[in-house]
Amino acid sequence: MTSVHSEPHDVSGGRPAPPPLWERSEEDLRAHTAEVLHRARARSTALTEAVDDDDLVRQHSKLMSPLVWDLAHIGSQEEIWLVRDVGGREPLRPDIDDLYDAFQHPRATRPELPLLGPSEARGYVAQVRSKALDVLERTTLSGDALTGTGFAFGMIAQHEQQHDETMLATHQLRRGDPVLRAPEPPRPATGDLPDEVVVPAGPFAMGTSVEPWALDNERPVHEVFVAGFALDTTPVTNAAFAAFADDGGYRDSRWWSAEGWAYRSAHDIVAPRFWRREGDRWWRRRFGVDEPVPDDEPVMHVSYYEAEAFARWAGRRLPTEAEWEKAARFDPATGRSRRYPWGDGEPEPRHANLGQRHLRPAPVGAYPDGASPLGVHQLIGDVWEWTSSDFRPYPGFAAFPYREYSEVFFGPEHKVLRGGSFGSDPVAVRGTFRNWDYPIRRQIFAGFRCARDLTAAETAAGV
Ligand SMILES: [Fe+2]
Repeated sequence: MTSVHSEPHDVSGGRPAPPPLWERSEEDLRAHTAEVLHRARARSTALTEAVDDDDLVRQHSKLMSPLVWDLAHIGSQEEIWLVRDVGGREPLRPDIDDLYDAFQHPRATRPELPLLGPSEARGYVAQVRSKALDVLERTTLSGDALTGTGFAFGMIAQHEQQHDETMLATHQLRRGDPVLRAPEPPRPATGDLPDEVVVPAGPFAMGTSVEPWALDNERPVHEVFVAGFALDTTPVTNAAFAAFADDGGYRDSRWWSAEGWAYRSAHDIVAPRFWRREGDRWWRRRFGVDEPVPDDEPVMHVSYYEAEAFARWAGRRLPTEAEWEKAARFDPATGRSRRYPWGDGEPEPRHANLGQRHLRPAPVGAYPDGASPLGVHQLIGDVWEWTSSDFRPYPGFAAFPYREYSEVFFGPEHKVLRGGSFGSDPVAVRGTFRNWDYPIRRQIFAGFRCARDLTAAETAAGV
């Protein structure tokens, strides 16, 4: 579409950020790519060395793979894409391709496979990495779609970080003493924030055609008209969600969709996953630690159905993903869409709770530097946010580099989540990034915020 506002390259506010990838020299881009791959591996190593070998091969939940499967799968994908496809090298372990093909083996059955053991898996991923870095050294990063601006390397770094978030979810499901440690997130620096922010009616540029490491489902940029709406300034907190539970929200079918009510009833769900009632207050288990549920953190471990029921109880609704993205990226001063709520610079620790630096969401209001131009806080990081949208292709979508990346998941069975969580790395989160999952999912680090239509009076007043 030609009427779409161009996407920005400028950097707004704060210290100057490094130039975007597409403006860097080949040497600088290569160094950056190697650093992002190293960061992913450091995280995979930390998550797999935190437990002993028995723990690595055990299945902690039918919902998850044994950690040792994730580790070797990371290596297998890196071998297939970087060593064989980009590098044109001989396969290292073609015999294990099938074992680590996520489409061939559902998570529940993976422990029965003849998987590589912990030390074999560690040796394999190290061997693949050394070859992949050699391929990176020798590859021109201005070539075809796969290697241009280092796309395939960025895709593999994102893939590893996505599995690192999955492995963190496995740690959350694991029984036993705590093995992960991290400092506490920052406390809110500002006073009371308004409850909601009005996002004015009008078109905005959704998706991207220029972000070099954006995945196929984020493309291409296209104009979307969004009617005026109001959005919560911050994600819904534990205190607000507890009020819903304490008000009998889980027992009142009026607030639930038919599918949501059937799911709630079949599993007798009465609170977010990992919560339990003790006396007059809620407690939770978080990475092996039992603690009172903190009032001011975004709620997490709720399914789409629970988010939807809360919103209806509160007289509100979930935002569509177009509404979410407009609130996150639209700059009313310029009419352009930013890469992130705070501007175009890469995420820094002052902007958002990302990268497993903290093992929990930060209290609402803790990241004023990460707010969007319209004043919406914590859109990036802390918790993934459920939207009301099904996962669908954008107009002009083209599968790349393979159909199984996104295309096979399009349809009404998956809901879109946005923004990333404290468990997501900056390389795998953007204003345009789209995650998707089944509406029953609760083990992921997902929460939500609510929206509402403007009233006729607000619309007439041009609020
Ligand atoms: Fe994978």
